[in-house]
Amino acid sequence: MQFDVFTLLPEVFPPYLNSSILKRAQENGHISVDVHNIRDWTHDKHHVTDDNPYGGGGGMIMKPEPVFEAVEDIIESPPSAPIILLTPQGRLFTQEIADELALNPRLALICGRYEGLDERIRTHLVTDEISIGDYVLTGGELPAMILIDALSRLIPGVLGDENGAANDSHASGLLEGPHYTRPPEFRGWEVPPVLRSGDHGKVAQWRREEALLRTFQRRPEMLEKIELSKKDRAFLEKIRNS
Ligand code: ADE
Repeated sequence: MQFDVFTLLPEVFPPYLNSSILKRAQENGHISVDVHNIRDWTHDKHHVTDDNPYGGGGGMIMKPEPVFEAVEDIIESPPSAPIILLTPQGRLFTQEIADELALNPRLALICGRYEGLDERIRTHLVTDEISIGDYVLTGGELPAMILIDALSRLIPGVLGDENGAANDSHASGLLEGPHYTRPPEFRGWEVPPVLRSGDHGKVAQWRREEALLRTFQRRPEMLEKIELSKKDRAFLEKIRNS
């Protein structure tokens, strides 16, 4: 999967993208990330990318010309990839949206800065708008990295283990239950014996029940959205009545 990022702060991307799993994903050819500096598409001496808002008021607005030129140069028109603007006004990013976006071979990500950007970018260039949460950041760079991270780990082969992302919290519609590693006892706190029993059936059942319990306790509304087995419903009934 190819990501083309358009930003005024290209220097913030390499430290994260060139570490750990995303670094390996790029080395193995699973993803490629090209970060483009919007400032390279200005034509004036001072490489100006923002201007005052029409109608007055505070804050600077990103000018349309360099953003259009940058995106059109890299992503041929008609667009060969969705052109996503990271903005607190976009669709709220979820695992479901990550699954949907991961089907694209290529995505363009535009990171907004300043107080906002010229509306014509939104109406005539952008094809989708994504928010990573109901709070406002100083720009779309962190949201773009979050999106790249969430999508990359869905690509087969990017995560090392055989289950990949299938058992993640949210992937199954449930939060994941607890995990343990050695030592079997730490400061008097023991690993649940079932995990050390070697009985795979029992372990699977315990994990399912812990996931149901945790979801019931923390995010009960998620239980309304998924298909539950008879066994699941009986277990939930038991904890509701306890
Ligand atoms: N830019 C600033 N805040 C943002 C948010 N919450 N999501 C996406 N882009 C943003």
